[in-house]
Amino acid sequence: MGTEQNLEAAMDRPAWAPPEVDLERPSTARIYDYMLGGLHNFAIDRQMAEQVLAVGPQIRLTAHANRGFLRRAVEFLAAAGIRQFLDLGSGIPTVGNVHEAAHRVAPDAKVVYVDVDPVAVAHSLAIVEGDERVTVVQADIRDTDAILSDPRVTGALDFTQPVAVLIVAVLHFVPDADDPARIVARLRDAIVPGSYLGISQVATFPFELTAEQRAVADRYTKANAVALRSREQIGAFFDGLELVEPGLVDPAEWRADGDVTDMFPSYAGVARKP
Ligand SMILES: C[S@@+](CC[C@H](N)C(=O)[O-])C[C@H]1O[C@@H](n2cnc3c(N)ncnc32)[C@H](O)[C@@H]1O
Repeated sequence: MGTEQNLEAAMDRPAWAPPEVDLERPSTARIYDYMLGGLHNFAIDRQMAEQVLAVGPQIRLTAHANRGFLRRAVEFLAAAGIRQFLDLGSGIPTVGNVHEAAHRVAPDAKVVYVDVDPVAVAHSLAIVEGDERVTVVQADIRDTDAILSDPRVTGALDFTQPVAVLIVAVLHFVPDADDPARIVARLRDAIVPGSYLGISQVATFPFELTAEQRAVADRYTKANAVALRSREQIGAFFDGLELVEPGLVDPAEWRADGDVTDMFPSYAGVARKP
């Protein structure tokens, strides 16, 4: 990185940025925050986001549609009696967070947020400070056993009772080499019957990209290790579980309560452990 960019990065560092944050590397959490209209992102994130949006401007709608799916899924789960939520890859808090949606329906619900990104963790901690119903943990979803045995997680959630595990817009950041199916299977095994799993993930392009689009997509997918998956591959994450209506669909269409937006290919579902 040149001196000019270093200077820009230094000037861009606000007081709230945790010291371990590398301002020279784009972060998926902060790119997503930017796409949702949030303020917790840096020049390098905005630059990457704008390059991606230039290839697929619908990605902004996808981010909003995904966030809508997350809210409706939590409302559905709370209405179905779920009182414990494990939100993995929870992101930077923005409008309509999991604990807010859950507490609207069930004020006693427990929520554990887990994210690998220090900015997401710092902001989650700040907004839930003093709320004993919400726990925030910095961890990598790939360290599934460590998360499931973390005393903060086991102290907040009773795994002998139903838990909703949410992995929303996260698994495309887990490459095949890290065996996402094994991660999801480990989580499925950890929850009792009557628990739920909610997943959304970006899918493979249903159209041919131009050389220019491919170059930007490759750059983004390399920088963020994005793994696009087919509908079948995403559906396989729910093996052994029963998808609730309407099954595996576009996040915008999952129990939609407003206008369904045109969007980038993506699939979402919520399934119950029988
Ligand atoms: C696109 S955001 C989704 C945020 C939220 N789940 C939502 O749907 O609004 C993806 C989040 O996953 C987090 N993430 C990516 N890889 C992760 C990993 N290996 N372990 C934990 N979190 C991860 C990122 O830091 C980011 O906050």
